[in-house]
This record gives sequence, structure tokens and C-alpha cells, in this order.
Amino acid sequence: MSITLNSGGKMPQIGLGTWAGMDPKERAAAQGWFSTALKAGYRHIDTAHFYGTEVFCRNAIRESGIPREEIFITTKLPAHHHERVAESLEESFSNLGLDYIDLYLMHCPQAILYDETTPLPRDADGVIITTDYSLNDTWADMEKLLATGKVKAIGVSNFSIKTLDQLFKTAKVVPAVNQVELHPYLTQNELLAYCKAKGIVITAFAATGYANVREDPLIVQLAVKYGVTPTQVILAWHISRGCVVIPKSANPQRQKENLQLPSLEADDNVKITALDRNERLSNKADETGRVFGWTYEQLGW
Ligand SMILES: NC(=O)c1ccc[n+]([C@@H]2O[C@H](COP(=O)([O-])OP(=O)(O)OC[C@H]3O[C@@H](n4cnc5c(N)ncnc54)[C@H](OP(=O)(O)O)[C@@H]3O)[C@@H](O)[C@H]2O)c1
Repeated sequence: MSITLNSGGKMPQIGLGTWAGMDPKERAAAQGWFSTALKAGYRHIDTAHFYGTEVFCRNAIRESGIPREEIFITTKLPAHHHERVAESLEESFSNLGLDYIDLYLMHCPQAILYDETTPLPRDADGVIITTDYSLNDTWADMEKLLATGKVKAIGVSNFSIKTLDQLFKTAKVVPAVNQVELHPYLTQNELLAYCKAKGIVITAFAATGYANVREDPLIVQLAVKYGVTPTQVILAWHISRGCVVIPKSANPQRQKENLQLPSLEADDNVKITALDRNERLSNKADETGRVFGWTYEQLGW
């Protein structure tokens, strides 16, 4: 199952999320579960400079012996690199050991101050320090990458209708993808319709909705009805809406499970969409009321 992007490339609709936490040991250990995922049939890897897992993706891909061109690889420009797009991409290439990537995303609309020692510099009040550097300038630098042939498609992440409207004031290239938090408790109906109308594919992160959604009575009931697990029901719902999903699992059995999805009846998809509570479970405001330095209002959330 693949989706054709507005760039012409084909993106497998199910990929592997590779966020492995902040602990360097956990990140290194993730190479093991990246390998089992490739063995299980994953051909789409979602990583990011910020995750610190690019190098372990490289090792797992090399070890697998799978030809490079058979794997769709996404990585992301971190928020503290908005003023150094070309340099940051070179760092990602070096980490990934690749000469091209399939999709390069602006990880966040907000620009964080560049600090060599940390991706998340904070002020005395603990607020992550953002700058006024415009997302339009960053996008213009990302557009230039397409001409090099080393980046096959460009896109964004954590963008709302508000920040996409801002991007479109100057964009020459329509983002191929917008990767956002999306699950049955945060169905993002308006954003999905907006992106569809513009030809932007939505990739859902936190797509499973964690135990919150897995344990929802409707989801549990549908899992029984279809003879599958709650997560398979949730992921199948995403697929029915034309979204790409990138579930993360370190467990070989669950990795396989997440690739084998049932087809749900239309009525059941409608019922799942009705679970919406506009509830963020992943990227939500911290104790300063901001997400990576921006308020919900600035983000348009
Ligand atoms: N662009 C962004 O800002 C952004 C933000 C967050 C995440 N992401 C990307 O999206 C990926 C996925 O997001 P996420 O990890 O937050 O959420 P997720 O994939 O929805 O959930 C991962 C959690 O669900 C569990 N899980 C996975 N499959 C399961 C199954 N079949 N049954 C029961 N539990 C299952 C995993 O546990 P086990 O590992 O034990 O199976 C893990 O604890 C990340 O890895 C990253 O690549 C992007």
C-alpha cells in the first residue's frame, strides 16, 4: 500500500517510527528493533535529526542488505537548525550514510535559537528560546534542496491551517506531506480536509493514541468484532482516511501486527471519527504553557 505524493514519489502508507527517547543507550539499542522491523517487511522509516537515531537507522539498513531504493526514508530539519538548512541536511546525510533522502520535513514551524550544546536552549524561566526567523525563509532554503536531487520531496510537520496559510504566502513548492499528531481523540478533520484540498498527504504520529485510545470501549468492541487487536482497528481507520501512519514498536510481534490491518465498514469508521475530543496526547504544552517555545495560539492549534 503506497500513496503517491505531489512530488511523484511513492510513500508506503505504513512506516516505522524511530523515536527512541532521550537516553543514548536506548537510542543505540533501537538498532535491534529497526532490524526486526525491516525483516518484518517495513520499507518506510521515519527518523529525524532531533531523535539521534539516524545513525542506527543507517546501521540497520546496511545490515539488512535491502537495496536502498526499496526503502522510503524520511528525516527532519530540527527546530534549532532553521537558519542552517544546508548544513543540517549534510549532518543528516552523514548520520544516515546516504546520498539522497526520500522526504525532508521541517520538524516544527517555530525556529529555536541555535546552540551547539543543546537542541532545546532555555531561558532563566525555563522557556525554550525561539527566534523571529521566519518559517518562510526556512521553507525557501528547503525548496532549493530539490534542485540538488539529493532530496526527493519536502514537507512540514506540526503545521496547522494557520501556519500553512503563513507558508503559502511565499511558498513556490506545495509541501508533499504534513506530519502531525492525529488519532481518534484528535481527528484533525479540518486540517485533513485543508491538506487534501491542497494535495498534501497527512502522516499521523502518535497514530495509535496509546493506551488512552486502545482502551476506549468502542475500539475494544470493534477489535472483538473484526477479530483483531485495538491497535489494528485504530491504524485501519487512519488508512481508510487516506493518511500515512508511522507506528513505533520495539516489539517484533507488534511490528508485524501493525502491518496487517483489516478493512473496516464505513459505519465503523464514522463511529471512530466521532470519538474526537480535540485531545493532544503527544506534543502538548509543557509547564510553561508552550510546545517547544510556542503557545497553542502561535501554533494555530
Ligand atoms: N513530527 C513530530 O513532531 C513527531 C512527534 C512524535 C512522534 N513522531 C514520530 O511518530 C512515531 C510514532 O509516534 P509515537 O511513538 O509517539 O506513537 P505511537 O507509534 O502511536 O505509539 C507508540 C507506543 O505504542 C506501543 N505500540 C505500538 N504498537 C502497538 C500495538 N500493536 N499494540 C500495543 N501497543 C503498541 C509502543 O510500545 P512497544 O514499542 O512496546 O510496542 C509504544 O509505546 C515516532 O516514533 C516518531 O517517528 C513525530
